[in-house]
Amino acid sequence: MTSLLDAAEQLSREELAVLQLERLRATLRHAYDNVGHYRLAFDRAGLRPEDCRSLADLARFPFTVKADLRDNYPFGMFAVDQSEVRRVHASSGTTGRPTVVGYTQRDLDTWADVVARSIRAAGGRPGHKVHVAYGYGLFTGGLGAHYGAERLGCTVIPASGGMTARQVQLIQDFRPEIIMVTPSYMLTLLDEFERQGVDPRTTSLQVGIFGAEPWTEEMRREIEERFAIDAVDIYGLSEVMGPGVAQECVETKDGLHIWEDHFYPEVVDPFTGEVLPDGAEGELVFTSLTKEAMPVIRYRTRDLTRLLPGTARVFRRMEKITGRSDDMVILRGVNLFPTQIEEIVLRTPGVAPHFQLRLTREGRMDALTVRAEARADATSAQRADAVRAIATAVKDGVGVSVAVEVVDPETLERSVGKIKRIVDLRPR
Ligand code: DLL
Repeated sequence: MTSLLDAAEQLSREELAVLQLERLRATLRHAYDNVGHYRLAFDRAGLRPEDCRSLADLARFPFTVKADLRDNYPFGMFAVDQSEVRRVHASSGTTGRPTVVGYTQRDLDTWADVVARSIRAAGGRPGHKVHVAYGYGLFTGGLGAHYGAERLGCTVIPASGGMTARQVQLIQDFRPEIIMVTPSYMLTLLDEFERQGVDPRTTSLQVGIFGAEPWTEEMRREIEERFAIDAVDIYGLSEVMGPGVAQECVETKDGLHIWEDHFYPEVVDPFTGEVLPDGAEGELVFTSLTKEAMPVIRYRTRDLTRLLPGTARVFRRMEKITGRSDDMVILRGVNLFPTQIEEIVLRTPGVAPHFQLRLTREGRMDALTVRAEARADATSAQRADAVRAIATAVKDGVGVSVAVEVVDPETLERSVGKIKRIVDLRPR
């Protein structure tokens, strides 16, 4: 019987390390020779690409941050001639310039390969139909998922985001086995199924591949239960590739295997930048190992997680992301992540899995209001209980007092892609 795994997935740890070092050295050389930013950064640190003699030596090299990409807008981080660049993507750029990323034909092939590997790890097989509801366009989600599903031999339904009623219709008519979408938009679809009087447990869907935003085990349970599917996590970021940097295996659902033959991970202390041992929580940092158009060296993701040994695959895992350092709220000295609130809201009877966090300032103190939506059938007594339950759970679990409002059903804005959990109303 031929193995379902591809060649790289069958390497031993030792073989993988040899491959990684060879690719790392080539990447450092490529970046140094072809990108002004890296040449300057390495020179400043007194380092040459060949100073990297072991994987541990990478820690001596300088970090790359989002501002470096912005400063080199649009194409200054590219390491190949523009005629070699087959595609660009860009982040929306909430503040100022977007960040632009580029791919050669070989990069696009690598990307399709890692997404195909991801869909296979999620349980997808050739012949399956894959409904892609990640947004198509400059965002990497839609096109990234699309080409990966095709590469695996699936039939792609390129739905993109939005037009929710039609998505529900398409799912019923085309009968996909797999859906790829943000977890928050999956909840929007859930509401729409119910509005149309269709039991979401009766669809053809078997697996959902959810990512592009943090989501919790509680959310997994909610989605799996309401749709009768397996829900697995996919991770990625444009600067490193797009979706398909890491993927959870459906048979274990124990965190995401990082496709370490293409992306070398480190976890560092977010304040000192010191590399932390596997198992310790910190900021995830990636170095690309095979990218041509835009190699990235020690790119700081701002995502917080831990590295763990491989289980279903030889590659190391990253724990489900707790949150981004950008989304961390500091309330009276206590750090709070939206995922902590998600866990609590989803455990609370009487409220729907929809919530929003409002940040305001009272005097010199920041204050947070958790706004959760009542379930359609909740009585006013249940709503009052929910307010108390959420406030108590946040106080006990996170260690800080917040205000809680349980608002009417259907009043909070619904996601069509990545959801924005925090509404910052503090004066600038
Ligand atoms: O969100 C790529 C992607 C598309 C991943 C579709 C998965 C599925 P960006 O728009 O550049 O790329 O945003 C990257 O999104 O640094 C994380 O903060 C967050 N993120 C992505 N996947 C996950 C995940 C795409 N599974 C940023 N869990 C990253 C938590 C995630 N956060």
